[in-house]
Amino acid sequence: MNVVLKNDLLLRALLREPTPRRPIWLMRQAGRYLPEYRATRARAGGFLQMCTNPEIACEITLQPVDRFPLDAAILFSDILTIPHAMNLGLEFEAGEGPRFERPVRSAADIDKLGVPDPGRELKYVIDAVSLVRRELGGRVPLIGFAGSPWTVATYMVEGGGSKTFGVIKRMMYEAPRDLHRLLEVLAKSTIQYLNAQIAAGAQAVMLFDTWGGVLTPAQYEEFSLRYMAEVIDALTRQADGRRVPNIVFTKGGGAWLKKIAAIGCDCLGVDWTTDLATAQLAVDGRVALQGNLDPAALFATPEVLRAETLRVLASYGDGPGHVFNLGHGITPDVDPERVALLVATVQSHRLVPA
Ligand code: CP3
Repeated sequence: MNVVLKNDLLLRALLREPTPRRPIWLMRQAGRYLPEYRATRARAGGFLQMCTNPEIACEITLQPVDRFPLDAAILFSDILTIPHAMNLGLEFEAGEGPRFERPVRSAADIDKLGVPDPGRELKYVIDAVSLVRRELGGRVPLIGFAGSPWTVATYMVEGGGSKTFGVIKRMMYEAPRDLHRLLEVLAKSTIQYLNAQIAAGAQAVMLFDTWGGVLTPAQYEEFSLRYMAEVIDALTRQADGRRVPNIVFTKGGGAWLKKIAAIGCDCLGVDWTTDLATAQLAVDGRVALQGNLDPAALFATPEVLRAETLRVLASYGDGPGHVFNLGHGITPDVDPERVALLVATVQSHRLVPA
């Protein structure tokens, strides 16, 4: 596994070390906007079939890295692999999003949940990580990931995606202890899962807290941030003689960046509703920042997309510690040519050394 890493810009930027230019990767960089992804999905038969087959997961992970000169690969998988391994009956209907046959609604449902063994129930993910590392041959670093305990819990309790989060919020108000027990099992599961990904070759890891932003500030601290802190605290810090940096991304968490930075993570993901200059003031140089182009800017004309990209670069400035990304995932209706332009614009931007 000790192949020399030829491009380590991402790892350096995540640790706030100086780099000659900004590294860039994109959330959901492997996905439906790519014709090669749609072709592989048609062949595999469905999303879960792709996730659970290490050869296919590896092939899809590499698709965006083969097409664009991105500075990182992110494992192709999903945040719902953990509840899938907990036997809740996960299904993805085409165009429908995730559904659980057996959602978690009661104390008794929570009692039944065990911590999945990454070497068994989640072996397909760990095997995919090893395979991707081998196939990448040190081209760029590989990012592993998991959902935050809170965000994964929303899917388990709601039984799928939600607009109002009425079921889990009712549990939060009526039976907070039950919800805490669920979040605790998820935190333990996430620690083992991410550490297994690191042991298999993930060189950085990211926690996706997509739904932390639907909570009040006090609820966010109690039900989301606290469990992410528990996970970050227990992560393997060093592998292959290098630090394994971690990224925490709470969508809609712009007002809480200072608190998030204090849990000991290396980098914060920032969505497009917070200016990076404002985010820098909030975290005061303690963590790196990742983001934050509005994903919809990829629908703009090439000129406007370029201008918006330069605006994001300028809002961070020339200091170390910025990983360019979108403020959330790329959407299926994006033209891959726009992505090529975005990557070229970021990579031709030279930083002025201090
Ligand atoms: O970023 C990457 O390229 C890595 C792969 C990745 C996927 N999902 C692949 C995927 C990652 C990091 C995720 C994380 C994920 N999954 C999140 C958190 C990040 C975010 O986007 O907010 C969430 C909330 C999920 C749960 C999930 N998975 C939903 C709600 C959906 C349906 C919505 C949709 O876009 O279709 C998925 C499916 C999914 N996960 C797809 C991909 C490429 C689309 C599946 C398909 O139809 O081909």
